[in-house]
This record gives sequence, C-alpha cells and structure tokens, in this order.
Amino acid sequence: MALHQEPQNQKQDKQLDLVITQPVVLVGMMGVGKTSIGKRLATRLGTAFVDADDEIEKAAGLSIAEIFDKFGEEYFRDGERRVIARLIDGEPKVIATGGGAFVNPVTRALILERATSIWLDADVHVLADRVSRRNHRPLLKGKDPVEVLTELGKIRNPLYAAANFHVRSDTSPHVRTVENILKALAA
Ligand code: S3P
Repeated sequence: MALHQEPQNQKQDKQLDLVITQPVVLVGMMGVGKTSIGKRLATRLGTAFVDADDEIEKAAGLSIAEIFDKFGEEYFRDGERRVIARLIDGEPKVIATGGGAFVNPVTRALILERATSIWLDADVHVLADRVSRRNHRPLLKGKDPVEVLTELGKIRNPLYAAANFHVRSDTSPHVRTVENILKALAA
C-alpha cells in the first residue's frame, strides 16, 4: 500500500492526514483528464506533479506530434518507457501518463510493481468531446475520435483494469474525481 497515516505533527495533507510513500500513477484513455486531475490530486496530497508526456517532449526537444512524425510511434513508446522509469525512480509524486503508456508490458509491469496505479475511466462520448477541444494528438489526427477511442478501448480497457484502483471521471467536476481517488487511496 502506498499510504500510511502520519502522526499529527507531520501532517502534509491537513484534511486527510495522508502521505504517499510510492508514486501515484494515473493511467487511462486520452481525454479522461489525467493531467488536470493529477495536478489537483498532487496539491491535495502535498506532493509534486509531473506529466510524462511533458517530460518526453522536454527530453526530445520536440512535441509528441513531431516525434510521431519524424521517428514513428515505436520510437515514441521507447522514450515513454524510459521517461516513466526515471519518474518512478524519483521522490514519490503524482505522475500522469499518456494513454498508451500502460499498454506497454514493460511500463505496465514497472508501474504495477513500484507505484500505486489509478485507472481513470469515462464513457467514450465524454472522452471524444474532451479530445475534440484540441487537435495535438497524433493518433486522432484526421480521424473520428469516437471510432478511434472505441477501437483503442477494446484493446486497452482490459489492460487498464490491472491498475490498483478504477475511478470514473465522467461529466462530474474534476474536484469530485479527485475526492474519489483520495477515498480509494485512503481505504
Ligand atoms: C497517446 C496519448 C497521449 C500521448 C500520445 C499517445 C495514446 O497522451 O501520449 O499522443 O496512445 O493514447 P494523453 O493520454 O495525455 O492524451
């Protein structure tokens, strides 16, 4: 378990008295809100937050779309695997991963072994609506998001289901999803 109760004088999260002793890794489909939920969750836990996609972009000096364009998806997945391994090695923090990260068997095994994983999940129409607000995702470029997300979901959802906790993030505000994650972590 990634959490233990802190004595009164070491409180880091005044409302919950919870301190993470392992990274908390958010997994799930594009558009489910891993980054914005992750930032809020980290604030509530009093820890750092990192977005694995941002770290990949920083390491490559390129956007994810450029990495896909220039080097292809396989190269991106390899960089993603290495970046997530590095992030898991550091101080316990909240880590948002790209939608395909947990699909990679090596990354998935590492997350399952060394972190507390949360599968954030939402109805495909909610996801499609959210991803339609931006067009930076290479896997969706020029495609119908409902179709792509439905097909990816068939492959990915059974894998995401291996995460330690399954929390829905449908149309309710992200703050409520954060509360549901905190409840799951504290249980
Ligand atoms: C991907 C999801 C993206 C990003 C890349 C590939 C995927 O991250 O890693 O475009 O395979 O689902 P988000 O889940 O943050 O959109």
